Amino acid sequence: MKPLSTDQIRQAYLDFFKKHKHTVIPGASLIPENDPTVLFTTAGMHPLVPYILGEPHPAGKRLTDVQRCVRTQDIDEVGDASHLTMFEMLGNWSLGDYFKEGAITMSFEFLTKVLGIPVSHLAVTCFEGDKDAPKDMESAKIWRDAGMPEERIGFLPKAKNWWGPAGTTGPCGPDTEMFYWVGEGEPKGNPASHEKEWLEIWNDVLIQYNKTAEGTFEPLKQKTIDTGMGLERVAAVLQGVPTVYDTDRLKPILDQVLKMSPRENLSAGNEMESGILRHARIIVDHLKAATFIIGDGIKPGNVDQGYVLRRIIRRAIRSARQLQIPTTGEFTPALAEAVIREYGHVYPYLKTKEKEIRDIVSAEERQFSKTLAEGLKHFERVVKESPSSISGENAFHLYDTYGFPMEMTQELAAERGLQLDKEGFDIAFQAHQSLSRAGAEKKFAGGLADHSAETTKLHTATHLLNAALRKVLGSHVWQKGSNITTERLRFDFSHESKMSPEQIKEVEDLVNWAIEKDFPIAYHITTVEGAKEENAIGVFDERYATEVKVYVVGDKEMIFSKEICGGPHVARTGMLGSFKIQKEESSSSGIRRIKATVAGGPGEIEVAGKG
Ligand code: ALA
Repeated sequence: MKPLSTDQIRQAYLDFFKKHKHTVIPGASLIPENDPTVLFTTAGMHPLVPYILGEPHPAGKRLTDVQRCVRTQDIDEVGDASHLTMFEMLGNWSLGDYFKEGAITMSFEFLTKVLGIPVSHLAVTCFEGDKDAPKDMESAKIWRDAGMPEERIGFLPKAKNWWGPAGTTGPCGPDTEMFYWVGEGEPKGNPASHEKEWLEIWNDVLIQYNKTAEGTFEPLKQKTIDTGMGLERVAAVLQGVPTVYDTDRLKPILDQVLKMSPRENLSAGNEMESGILRHARIIVDHLKAATFIIGDGIKPGNVDQGYVLRRIIRRAIRSARQLQIPTTGEFTPALAEAVIREYGHVYPYLKTKEKEIRDIVSAEERQFSKTLAEGLKHFERVVKESPSSISGENAFHLYDTYGFPMEMTQELAAERGLQLDKEGFDIAFQAHQSLSRAGAEKKFAGGLADHSAETTKLHTATHLLNAALRKVLGSHVWQKGSNITTERLRFDFSHESKMSPEQIKEVEDLVNWAIEKDFPIAYHITTVEGAKEENAIGVFDERYATEVKVYVVGDKEMIFSKEICGGPHVARTGMLGSFKIQKEESSSSGIRRIKATVAGGPGEIEVAGKG
């Protein structure tokens, strides 16, 4: 029998959970909405945080989806057998419905019956217990009763068997993880005794706690199941191939990369130097991630997501140079095209944006090639000045200003028989890292994930601002992005020209007027069609499930704002105190950005309920 394809596994998962009364919801963007705690969506649970914390989800208590995810912390692992920067996570959730028993028995049934994985090649781990939560004997018993042999059940500490929160605060809990035997010969023990030989493929998180900013674990009122299965890993296991890059959707892209290289003997099937193969895999991974990230609206830049995007495109180009693939502007678009060829049928927006994606990567490729050429000139100057060695500082300057990876400077130095002060580079590098880490930690300050009064107020203020902008500037105004910290809101919207001081004042006054009116806020649940019919504003793309929540700000006399949104919001506009626009600036072409604050509202708020 032919093994299941990636497309078939994705579909089988959704079908299985649909059969078990889950609603299939669309995956969210890679760029988190209203949540500054992380740059990218890193797990299927991430867009669901408000519902895990207790907001009712319009599609009910049992959900399933496919979520595209980006994880940059494993970037140095990329190119091995199992790590990817961007991957697809299959997930199912119980929001206060089934708990351990339901989750584990369904996982076991899916793995063994639907995917047909022999029990002999499966193992699981459970939480070993500590001061925050007890040893999870209950999950172990459910696994045993389902048919998992005792020997295949391991117990591990928090570092391994605990998941979350996604940022620094939010829902989390012990988990129970499922593994497939990838070792030599017959399966042995379990991941607690033979860590390297068992590959994690699925994780059932038993969410019971909310980690607070103070680092304490508060029990959640609602117990939740959050699961995540790595689609590419499961495909590799079922297709009997040694790495995720050899699965049916990634292999054609890998082969294309190898064909592009003029280096000899780079066809699949040949024994390749592992370094070379790794570069080819890095190219596949990074340009796949870049294609999806641009598809979700990001352009290469110097901060936040744009910076990550720039780095991964440049790393791919650097690997291409190692394979002697020309990088004059045609390399990256050819691979973006390959990615869209393999994934466009599942992610149609990639097809719609194909030209834009190709143009963006091509421009970045050309710009980087120019920078590299300048960097090489600088390198020559450095060599002239100190012909015997390259200082750590100079190496770092090449890295920081010209984007020269350390290994590249090292190779160039070696070619000339020069010494390179690697230690000095590391010191300069670490100083830089801790600076950027300090920046990143600031981002963890708040966000909707913490559900604080401040972020909730700012979230409601965003709705008022959106409505006011449409009233003052016109109905061409649409939300293009939103980001909320405990201190401020940031709202991007479509509008061609700079706002005049009068327009800014008018918008601000209108929002403050709505605050003074102390309008009530409530939501109702309707279909996407229903929301359109009642003129609710929203993004209306593939992100919505069939059922949505519509938040209405207003009373019998006047509806001030009506918008599709997951919530939460304050119960009355008066709780915002007062509203101030701090800055109006350009975000990108045709898109303006407003930063605004609220002040003077109550410290404790009431949350808007169902109307
Ligand atoms: N949120 C869990 C994970 O990412 C399922 O592993």
